Amino acid sequence: MGLTFALAGKGGTGKTTLAGLLVRYLVEHDLRPVLAVDADANANLNEVLGQEVEVTLGEAREEMKSTQSVSMTKDQLIEMRVNQALIESDGYDLIVMGRPEGAGCYCAANSVLSSVLDKLSINYPYMVMDNEAGLEHISRLITKSIDHMLIVTDPTRRGILTAGRIKELTQNLPMAVGAIHLILNQVRGEDFSALAKMSAEHGLEVLGSIPADDQLAQFDLEGKPTTQLPGDNPAVKAAFGLFDKLVAAHLGQGMTGAA
Ligand SMILES: Nc1ncnc2c1ncn2[C@@H]1O[C@H](COP(=O)(O)OP(=O)(O)O)[C@@H](O)[C@H]1O
Ligand SMILES: [Mg+2]
Repeated sequence: MGLTFALAGKGGTGKTTLAGLLVRYLVEHDLRPVLAVDADANANLNEVLGQEVEVTLGEAREEMKSTQSVSMTKDQLIEMRVNQALIESDGYDLIVMGRPEGAGCYCAANSVLSSVLDKLSINYPYMVMDNEAGLEHISRLITKSIDHMLIVTDPTRRGILTAGRIKELTQNLPMAVGAIHLILNQVRGEDFSALAKMSAEHGLEVLGSIPADDQLAQFDLEGKPTTQLPGDNPAVKAAFGLFDKLVAAHLGQGMTGAA
């Protein structure tokens, strides 16, 4: 039984950084293979993972809109493109959705794409989806249910308000969403219990917090993949501690043998 994780939150809060660390966590804990999906139009999950991207699926969507191939069905064509765009690594593969160029309707292309992604994801017990701030695109990309939605925020009142709104958007998604957790990132000694209380007032349960970390910022500045931070880095340790809770809770459910 696998797990699907999706990251959400406004821009700059640390979604991509945490998506990358979650991929690393899963691989290191032998919870693999992982499918990492970069569903942000401004793709950069590859950077935190230290991967080069040559092809995204944006081009494939473009092609799907115009092509009337005689030799291949659209399904076959997109399946071929998905395989070409898949970046294979140790313990995980990365697929970058990219941005379709030009105007017009991608509805048909997106629906084929989502069925191909669903099919692809069968091969991966674990899936981590990095998203852009809005969530509308998620339902166009996958139909699979999401086990853990991780909403990332900075430790501010406004950030928590935004996180509350994102949670509401989640309720409009057509797929099932299991647990929704709030992660307070880039914390610099703010009052945790006050923030947790404020979060609860917006219907959000705080999974925990991750400190603002100079070494992480420095890696990012130098263009070094932040997933390559040492294991004793305080932000990495804090993130892994939060991921432990998610995975442990899931294993616990498995052991009580519901279903
Ligand atoms: N805990 C942290 N400490 C220091 N810098 C951080 C931390 N988390 C994220 N950052 C930095 O904040 C910026 C935005 O992070 P990113 O993961 O790209 O956010 P998002 O994907 O939500 O837009 C990046 O420069 C990243 O390195
Ligand atoms: Mg991002």
